[in-house]
Amino acid sequence: EKGGYRHFMAKEIAEQPIVLGDALSHYLRGEGIEMPEPGLDFTEFDRMVMVACGTANYACVVAKYWFESLAGISVEVDIASEFRYREPPIPPRTLALFVSQSGETADTLAALRYCEGKAARVASVVNVTESSIARESDLVLPIRAGAEIGVASTKAFTCQLTVLFLLALKAAHDRGRLDAEELEARIAALRQVPGLMNIAMASSDEIAAVAKSVSEARDVLFLGRGAMFPLAMEGALKLKEISYIHAEGYASGELKHGPIALVDKTVPVIVMAPSDHLFDKTVSNMQEVMARGGKVLLITDAKGARAAGDGCWKTILMPEVDPLLAPILYALPAQLLAYHAAIAKGTDVDQPRNLAKSVTVE
Ligand code: M6R
Repeated sequence: EKGGYRHFMAKEIAEQPIVLGDALSHYLRGEGIEMPEPGLDFTEFDRMVMVACGTANYACVVAKYWFESLAGISVEVDIASEFRYREPPIPPRTLALFVSQSGETADTLAALRYCEGKAARVASVVNVTESSIARESDLVLPIRAGAEIGVASTKAFTCQLTVLFLLALKAAHDRGRLDAEELEARIAALRQVPGLMNIAMASSDEIAAVAKSVSEARDVLFLGRGAMFPLAMEGALKLKEISYIHAEGYASGELKHGPIALVDKTVPVIVMAPSDHLFDKTVSNMQEVMARGGKVLLITDAKGARAAGDGCWKTILMPEVDPLLAPILYALPAQLLAYHAAIAKGTDVDQPRNLAKSVTVE
């Protein structure tokens, strides 16, 4: 059932172009974006609250950048275990959106129950559609990733992002911020992602080689800006979950506010940065790291690699992608890096110590 792969995680990483394509064709059957019944009209909401745990929470943080920049709607993101006990006010014109692969995470379910009767609508983005979270939602958006067995979430994350991006486009369209032509152009860019992922998969051997050195580190930093910041946190989570290496994800601009104190020649600093309008700022952050002897592993496109100049320890090239969509594509090298670091360390990739696939107790 591993389909010839050594681990479920490897299979699930490799499956992403196919399952992403499947999720897309499910939501893009006719003209525009098809919503399951009873549908959502974003003119009914003034704000959104998105709640989840772990990797699903990082998908929400990426989506916050999309909803805010494309649809102009304020989004609050919280981890479920904090949200549920905080007694946060939920104004009536709020869309409450819960993201969960399993649909059974106890804290996320409790957060959903807290919002029932307070929020205008309670919607969920789930993989398992016969789950408690799906059952208790007004509207369910399936991610269609297929069964995910590896404890480290991979394809569910990129499918969550894909569905959330479509939802952000719908929100932007409903709210008059994206006309039909722009919507079509955004959808066309999204449709390219599975193909770009296939191209990116070709870097697997190169990533395996660099992951071998990363596996010898005690601490690893991941840096990203904008929607790549939550991806940096996801990259760090993946690495710590399966290789047990201490890793942290930071917003690049936060580096000098503390974490740079950790940098020396033993600390790999993984910078995930497509060439976008903020790339220059990321280059100066990398220079700060290099000036302290830090080893920068830059994951970028050809243009970014040229702009970064010399001095990086290693560069992994990704195909060029719409910067808004980069978190989906760049999830792949982050997953591969964690996977190969775990292989190098000989840890149990699919069943990491102390972790369960579905956390049904708080
Ligand atoms: O099933 P869920 O999406 O609600 O699970 C949430 C987290 O427990 C999950 O994403 C966890 O962080 C994964 N092990 C990440 O790889």
